[in-house]
Amino acid sequence: MAVIYNDEKQIFHLQTKGTSYVMQVVRNKYLLHLYWGKRVQNYCGTRSIILKNRGFAPNPQENDRDFSLDTLPMEYPHGGNGDFRSCAFGIREQNGSRICDLSYVGYEIMKGKPKLEGLPCSFGSEEEVSTLKIHMKDKISGLSVFLLYGVFENADVITRSVVFENHGNSPLTLTKMLSMSVDFRESGFKVMTLYGAHNNERNVDLRPLKSGMVQIESLRGTSSPQQAPFMALLEANASEESGNIYSANFVYSGNFTALAQADAFENVRFQMGMNPWNGEWYLEPNEKFFTPETVMVFSSQGLNGMSQIYHNFYQHNLIRSKFAFQPRPILINNWEATFFDFNEDKLLALADKAAQTGIELFVLDDGWFGHRDNDDSSLGDWVTDKRKLPLGLSHLSDEIHNRGLKFGLWFEPEMISRNSELFRNHPEYALHTEGRPYTFGRGQLVLDLSNDEVCRYVIESVSKVLRETKIDYVKWDMNRHLTDVGSINFPMERQGEIFHRYVLGLYKILEELTTEFPDILFESCSSGGGRFDPGMLYYMPQTWCSDNTDAVCRMKIQYATSFTYPVVTMGAHVSEVPNQQTGRVTPLQTRGQVAMSANFGYEIDLTKLSSEELDEIKKQVAFYKDIRNTIQFGKFYRIKSPFDENVAQWNFVSGDGSQAVAFHFEILSQPAAPIKILKLKGLDADAVYRDISTGYEYGGDELMYSGISVPLEKKDFRSVCFRFVKVN
Ligand code: GLA
Repeated sequence: MAVIYNDEKQIFHLQTKGTSYVMQVVRNKYLLHLYWGKRVQNYCGTRSIILKNRGFAPNPQENDRDFSLDTLPMEYPHGGNGDFRSCAFGIREQNGSRICDLSYVGYEIMKGKPKLEGLPCSFGSEEEVSTLKIHMKDKISGLSVFLLYGVFENADVITRSVVFENHGNSPLTLTKMLSMSVDFRESGFKVMTLYGAHNNERNVDLRPLKSGMVQIESLRGTSSPQQAPFMALLEANASEESGNIYSANFVYSGNFTALAQADAFENVRFQMGMNPWNGEWYLEPNEKFFTPETVMVFSSQGLNGMSQIYHNFYQHNLIRSKFAFQPRPILINNWEATFFDFNEDKLLALADKAAQTGIELFVLDDGWFGHRDNDDSSLGDWVTDKRKLPLGLSHLSDEIHNRGLKFGLWFEPEMISRNSELFRNHPEYALHTEGRPYTFGRGQLVLDLSNDEVCRYVIESVSKVLRETKIDYVKWDMNRHLTDVGSINFPMERQGEIFHRYVLGLYKILEELTTEFPDILFESCSSGGGRFDPGMLYYMPQTWCSDNTDAVCRMKIQYATSFTYPVVTMGAHVSEVPNQQTGRVTPLQTRGQVAMSANFGYEIDLTKLSSEELDEIKKQVAFYKDIRNTIQFGKFYRIKSPFDENVAQWNFVSGDGSQAVAFHFEILSQPAAPIKILKLKGLDADAVYRDISTGYEYGGDELMYSGISVPLEKKDFRSVCFRFVKVN
């Protein structure tokens, strides 16, 4: 049973393979949080609430000074009547009142999991998931709040989202609507977040939480490269391999906030949801509002245990593309090879070389449409530029297919250039606030996806190209953040909704396009990994991890991306040296081995390489095909972090356990260099494995516990790969 309800004590116990999550209704009104952590068989009441009269802690009852919302562990806290910590939601009534007072009404337990209207969310069969729906109500405003808990017993995941329904007679405004709030009666956590920038996505930040708040957010209209929509609380002794970790990842691609707040009594509140800044929603009587979903993962086996749960869950219960479990093609992308300067001959020369090396997919990036010779024009005009491709896109696609390659195409559908036919005809399609000047980003404007007509334009113009040309893959890019957010199509009281309406418009477009074109492999991109979030993964099974293709930087970016996302979702390409982002020169072998640790491809002018380099690439491609199944669908284990040391190490074990591939990367050559040991993970301790290149055989226990000595070499940026097959 994934949801157990004790009627007598009014206790809800959500139970997965490794986790328990417990709440209790007290005084027949308040929903309190009791426990989230390692699974307990039967929760009988050990963590009872101890009431205490504390200074400055207000009380709902005049003569009951021990009972205060400010000191109780609240399950979905509201502000205004005594809880001074960060509230999970807020309202504004017609009269301006911002107070709310939720009372427990009842619950429902369902098999399966309902969809969240207009939003991506995890899914599962009736055997995989059960849903608990708790009904709370504010009597005065008539607002009903439904807390939804998806309990994935075997996947070891609990999801949370909230539905607000206005059952009152007047409209009201939701001023904050977080998806998750958990009150721990523990403290001493370290807070882990992933921060970055364009070309430098997802660095690890680990901060002790002593007092006050650690908060991250995006106000940029997308989940952003600046902060990933992820937060984890690590108990003091937690590490990669052991210890308790409480984490959440937000299934949403817009503005978000995540925070951990320590109070004066050594309690910690952990919250995640939509960012309340410019994030209101006006709710008419009988209207509903669905918050996006948070995926909550508890691990008693450190960060590694946490990542295994996320990877498995996203592959099986979030990514709905039919490609989720299909081997992904090795691609060549022309961007860093040609930029905007290409014609059909140049592209086909690149495709010829790609075909010779065994590459499987040719992707035509930016510059094929409108009159786009640089990045300041034509976004929105999804019509082939006949100056560059006089025989048309279909001709190019046929020629590519004739060479045995699949054909992919780049779009940036959410944008509009001022210098475009679309803008000349429909200036009102650009996101803007009447009477105010535009703010540009990369010289372009953003389409107003809160407007249904604009969404229809995007769907029609993109589908037209996809229908007329044989296209196997689409790279969906998004290269600036939202400014001038407003819309003349909505009244004053709804202007705070435009950020969210933009995301809902985007999801609607993606829903339609991915449904109409299920055979197209979509890859999401936002100047690299700027919108790498579970919301996008729901529609698109892979994401371009970063515009930074430097092998050393990529070690970190891919390492940290793997905390939540499966390796198969990370696009990784070999590019030229000196690297265009850092100027660094790294060996082709290292560039290959870093990129083949993810969803592999090339972004390099193959026509300019020597025959030796092409031969090496041919070998890399053949090697990746051999290990692809293990890399893309096996288990991934981080061993040594490039954030901590001069090395990075990781290994993969195939789903059936028969294959293992391990990589060792050493960044700078050092004097008096220490000899490094590579200790594999996830092998069968009792099995014997053969090293494919030497033929030597070792026990799984030896490979894991004793480890392999990595040969020394006087060379910067070097890499070593070990490949094993299980012998018995
Ligand atoms: C973004 C993408 C790149 C490339 C360019 C094209 O920066 O991240 O991969 O597609 O746009 O303009």
